[in-house]
Amino acid sequence: MCGIVGYTGHRQAYPVVLKGLKRLEYRGYDSSGVALLNGDLKVYKKKGKVSELEEAVIGQDLQANTGIGHTRWATHGEPSDRNAHPHQSASGTIAMIHNGIIENYASIKHELQNKGYVFKSDTDTEVLLNFIEDIKRNNNSSLEEALRIALRRIVGAYCILLVDIDEPETIIAARKGSPLVIGIGKGEHFLASDASPIIEYTKEVVYVNDYEIAIIKPDELVLKNLGNEKQTPFIQKLDLELAAIEKGGYEHFMLKEIHEQPDTIYDCLRGRLLHESGSITMSGVDNHLEALTSANRMVLVACGTSWHAALLAEYMFEELCRIPVEVEYASEFRYRNPVINRGDVIIAISQSGETADTLVALENAREKGAFIFGVVNAVGSSIARMSHAGAYSHAGPEIGVASTKAFTGQLAVLAMMALKIGYAKGSLNESRYLQLMKELEAIPEKVREILQDTSNIRAIAEKYKDASDFLYLGRGYNFPIALEGALKLKEISYIHAEGYPAAEMKHGPIALVDETLPVVFVATKDSYYEKIVSNVQEIKARKGIVIAVATEGDSVIPGMADDVMYVPDADEILAPILSVVPLQLLSYYIGIAKGLDVDKPRNLAKSVTVE
Ligand code: F6R
Repeated sequence: MCGIVGYTGHRQAYPVVLKGLKRLEYRGYDSSGVALLNGDLKVYKKKGKVSELEEAVIGQDLQANTGIGHTRWATHGEPSDRNAHPHQSASGTIAMIHNGIIENYASIKHELQNKGYVFKSDTDTEVLLNFIEDIKRNNNSSLEEALRIALRRIVGAYCILLVDIDEPETIIAARKGSPLVIGIGKGEHFLASDASPIIEYTKEVVYVNDYEIAIIKPDELVLKNLGNEKQTPFIQKLDLELAAIEKGGYEHFMLKEIHEQPDTIYDCLRGRLLHESGSITMSGVDNHLEALTSANRMVLVACGTSWHAALLAEYMFEELCRIPVEVEYASEFRYRNPVINRGDVIIAISQSGETADTLVALENAREKGAFIFGVVNAVGSSIARMSHAGAYSHAGPEIGVASTKAFTGQLAVLAMMALKIGYAKGSLNESRYLQLMKELEAIPEKVREILQDTSNIRAIAEKYKDASDFLYLGRGYNFPIALEGALKLKEISYIHAEGYPAAEMKHGPIALVDETLPVVFVATKDSYYEKIVSNVQEIKARKGIVIAVATEGDSVIPGMADDVMYVPDADEILAPILSVVPLQLLSYYIGIAKGLDVDKPRNLAKSVTVE
């Protein structure tokens, strides 16, 4: 949520910052802006996407070796030029960008207004900036010292970058709750919300921790805590290639990422799932097997698509490990004063590893003594670092705002965990364990099969693109997939869609069914198959339109449905990893048919770092 970039060094800052903003645009695209420090301070900002800023600054003086830039997902104040970052302090000498929310901004604003400050924007950021400037002026202190004093009063989350006319070639940064990476070059430093703007220049990075302040010059990086004590920067090597964050010939990141799934699922299993030797190696699980097998209860905490993965994991863990599982929306869990006992294991699921609600839910649970296991995609992210143990989903950078390959990666990790824990516990017998391992190993090729020819799904998308509502139904392991299918459609096509357990339909949603309502059934061959056949009949009896995801070779469902998307046969525990793929594609093609920006759907942002 909001992308932040900074540069100071021997290059021109503007092109580096602009390119970085384009890479981070998935984090927010309501407005963008840059501040360039070159003796004086120039600020350019524009409502809309980064390309609109790029056009707006043509002909302007962009010469500078130090600069910061921001792409916004609006929280306080509508998307507009005025509310775009960077903001300038009342004196005009300091510029600041911010990702996060200052919760107590209203009282500070009031204080400043009483002192005569006038605000040009509706943002919490401008309030914090003037608060810092006010402290700097009153205490006759450096910017760094003023920032430190200001942050002690701040409630909320922030990653901020500041440049000050009084401090040439310097960027001052601070973080709490919102991510910040510093890239270390030769005589230059790069700053960004994630590593994607940095990798083409350097692979050496430092992840800034909460409550740290960084003072960055071309040749110097000083890291301090809020108590003004120097910290030793922990330099890490990035394991990321530039190609991984480019479109690679696809029209959209979403399509590229859907098509990457055979490889990303394979990468997730590779080196871990060894069917030949009957072993699953996951160091995070191996090192804490006792805590996991003896868990009294597992609480799975996540948001959005990751929450759907958690819901599916509930079915897997209860079936294979016989451990009671609760699935929680992180946003509810964090505020509910939940009962957490010794012996509870909290499993956090997150693509970005930065989702604010999930992060705080975990911090609360950790304080209460729970064991935290993170299933995270983004390496080195906050959730990964604050978990006691974890397993990466190894899906690579996901740039399309709607999650696709990260979801199937999460399912692959969770399936391996369920198999491993169940087998170690004795609740899963050897022959079923080996059979499921074999099935899981075959999943990447089965996904590849689905992706070989998607013309049928595209034709179905064209046919139903003008529908105003969709209903998605599934039972058992396919119920979370119905929810995920509906979420994907809402996000990408702006068509209203609801996911429901198929049997629950009779308790209300069936009233919606008429000859105009497409009902998508996730109806693969599993132990609920006969039941779902009856549900399909109930919809057809009311003249509803049925679109089914069915197993190849099935003749019953295709005989009843108006349109069918086929997936290869698979064990019911793993079949959801296949059945979600046509639903991802259906949303994608409907979005395209409606002429929408599928990589950057309206109002959304990739990494939700505000609650
Ligand atoms: C939907 C989507 C979101 C995220 C949610 C959690 O396509 O991407 O619903 O799943 O915001 O994000 P992470 O997984 O990064 O914690």
